[in-house]
Amino acid sequence: MAKKIVVIPGDGIGSEITTSAVEVLKKVAEKFSLDLEYDYKDAGGTAYDKFGVPLPDDTLNACKEADGVLFGAVGGDKWDNVDPALRPEKAILGLRKGLGLYANLRPVKVADSLVEYSPLKPELVKGVDLVIVRELVGGIYFGEKCESEMKDGAERAWDLENYSVPEVDRISKLAFETAKLRRGKVTSVDKANVLATSRLWRRTVAEMAKNYSDVELNNMYVDNCAMQLATHPSQFDVILTGNLFGDILSDEAAVVGGSIGMMPSASIGECTSLYEPIHGSAPDIAGKGIANPVGTILSAAMLLRYSLGEEEAAQAIEKAVDSALDKGWRTADLWREGFKKATTEEMTKAVIECL
Ligand code: IPM
Ligand code: MG
Repeated sequence: MAKKIVVIPGDGIGSEITTSAVEVLKKVAEKFSLDLEYDYKDAGGTAYDKFGVPLPDDTLNACKEADGVLFGAVGGDKWDNVDPALRPEKAILGLRKGLGLYANLRPVKVADSLVEYSPLKPELVKGVDLVIVRELVGGIYFGEKCESEMKDGAERAWDLENYSVPEVDRISKLAFETAKLRRGKVTSVDKANVLATSRLWRRTVAEMAKNYSDVELNNMYVDNCAMQLATHPSQFDVILTGNLFGDILSDEAAVVGGSIGMMPSASIGECTSLYEPIHGSAPDIAGKGIANPVGTILSAAMLLRYSLGEEEAAQAIEKAVDSALDKGWRTADLWREGFKKATTEEMTKAVIECL
């Protein structure tokens, strides 16, 4: 039976990069005799313009029925002034909540050919191979909030950070399981010197660690972790953290890895999982055909791996990306003298030719 992939291009460069990833998926499906079906759905500002909401029910329902979701990006200055409850970003937050996507995996592995793109010295970056396991449906992102209220004569706003033991349990279990298949090291990142939620987090992670004698657990404060990522990134294997800290640290880790345009992610849920590049919708270059499709292509590889169990096909895509880079193909964000400058389409072709 065909496996159904819902494709959500979204806004900005979203349609260019998802088109690329689907072309690569079609080629790999042919090669490995996979039966894949694609169903395109709207979300983000594009959906807001058409239907007045960033996440139509039809889109969420289609995702629930699918075997996997490939997501481009949402957002853009065009929608900066819409009601906060209807902002394009609400589409991705609504999908995370609606699909129960509790874990976000963001791997950062620096290919030798890309070491020079990192703002860090090559000797610091060589060999970096880490994955951030970010809690994705709790914490301050989904706590109670108030946009505006008057208190003691002053206007204020607030967002509530909160975590329950079961929420921390399930994300830490996934982090330990992930570490077991890697180098066996979990660094749990919190702010336990200040925040009550972080103290509960730390305690709960320590309990979970007792089930994994083969995995080493370290605790690190988030400010220190931000510094360690910039000074000694190769020490990390699995970084386990909450929603807000994970958001910030994963962008930092991505630039350490050279280019945010190259980084994929998987958001693992109770039923359907979702795959997206970690960069945004880049409205400034939308429609120009120059966006880097690699983050989305590698996200499609993660979809094959985690949602369809097609490890071989996933690795084929990852190897093809490495080969295209080795052959000197670079999109504008990474292009330098001596390399072949590729449009989105040319980069896609180069990957497909290496498959
Ligand atoms: C990300 C993004 C989102 C987040 C935004 C678009 C809501 O920055 O996936 O990291 O903050 O989680
Ligand atoms: Mg982010």
